[in-house]
Amino acid sequence: MSKIWTPDSWRSMPIRQVPTYPDEAKLNTVEEELRGMPPLVFAGEARRLKRQLGEVARGNAFLLQGGDCAESFAEFHADKIRDTFRVLLQMSVALTFAASCPIVKVGRMAGQYAKPRSSDTETQGEVSLPSYRGDIINGISFDAESRIPDPARMIKGYAQASSTLNLLRAFAQGGYANLKKVHQWNLDFVGGGEAVEKYQDLADRIDEALAFMEACGIDPNSTALHGTDFYVSHEALLLRYEEALTRVDSTTGDWYDTSGHMLWIGDRTRIKGEAHVEFLRGIANPLGLKVGPTTDLDELIDIIDILNPENEAGRITLICRMGAGIIEDKLPAVIKRIEEEGKAVVWSSDPMHGNTISAANGFKTRPFEDVLSEIRRFFRIHRSMGTYAGGVHFEMTGQNVTECTGGAEAITEEKLADRYRTHCDPRLNASQSLELAFLIAEGLKEERDERAKEMKRTAASE
Ligand code: PEP
Ligand code: CO
Repeated sequence: MSKIWTPDSWRSMPIRQVPTYPDEAKLNTVEEELRGMPPLVFAGEARRLKRQLGEVARGNAFLLQGGDCAESFAEFHADKIRDTFRVLLQMSVALTFAASCPIVKVGRMAGQYAKPRSSDTETQGEVSLPSYRGDIINGISFDAESRIPDPARMIKGYAQASSTLNLLRAFAQGGYANLKKVHQWNLDFVGGGEAVEKYQDLADRIDEALAFMEACGIDPNSTALHGTDFYVSHEALLLRYEEALTRVDSTTGDWYDTSGHMLWIGDRTRIKGEAHVEFLRGIANPLGLKVGPTTDLDELIDIIDILNPENEAGRITLICRMGAGIIEDKLPAVIKRIEEEGKAVVWSSDPMHGNTISAANGFKTRPFEDVLSEIRRFFRIHRSMGTYAGGVHFEMTGQNVTECTGGAEAITEEKLADRYRTHCDPRLNASQSLELAFLIAEGLKEERDERAKEMKRTAASE
């Protein structure tokens, strides 16, 4: 690893998952243009998120991260942004009540346009074409022309990220995120039929808590209850785009990637000595590392040392994506090693990427039970090891899609074809996401009550 970092020092390192652009001149022009564009986020915001994630690492807050697997240009619409934002808020209200701590909300939004692929080519019948790599790189339709990487897509990605962020900022601060309103949506959800009425009890308790707060004179229109902090994140995969938006912060003199508040490295590019780790080491944003079942622990420790030499809490979030069937075999060793090395990290669970299967009719799907099962095991393992399960990371949407099977609505494999819209991996739909949040909330609440009882018992016996 070279000592001196510059925004382009990654260019001399080995790299995976990058497109080969046929038109080099156009590529250079686009990169130059992007370098002249205003930043999408401010360094101060990224620092604030890092501080809040530091609180998660210390066990005083909880991280909720979610959004599309791949945002698309064709599906770009204000209603879709609003609906995903709304479901994230609804989830966070249930979680806040249950965990009794602040929920740090981070969207996989406003920049999640580039995808790592397991194969460089896609074959349909007799025809093989370069794989689709996300709308910021090439087109999804299966024809040779669409699959050619086009640098102009980076400009479109920037523009779309910019208007997405603009709307999210307005929603977060303009009254849409009012706690009472969000809670009312949750009441509407649990009132939505037999399948979800089991969550009524938790919703009623939140209702009582809000009524109590209001009776105490806390105004639901006060700033704290009226608006919320909301951050955006994406996988830092297309380094040309990330580099072009990397700027020096005038307050601290540090480099920030201003394309999003938080950036993560995927399981396929988290490799020591390669370009993605090199790029991320020089930016001061909070970072995520996907941790899959094949992760080499020595290498993971080396990468954490490279990315976070000061062991700053909040800098690194380990997003564990093992699979429900093997999490018990794999996660304890990761936790043990990180603990032994004394690394300050946020432990988050991505219960999506280890639980992808092919349905009999060919659709890529994820069974709701497996997603839930991985999360439950994640919490249980942390509890047994005395570490803090600090967050969750979902691929989800506010739309009523049919991409993951199961949940209260009991989506069957046959129903997947009804509204299968994802540009990449299957997402939880709005009601599956909410249901999951309520189930996690119940678990967190039980855990908290258990702990409180234990403390009472200990106090009584002393
Ligand atoms: C993703 O988060 O969409 C992704 C590709 O994940 P992973 O790197 O964990 O496979
Ligand atoms: Co995905």
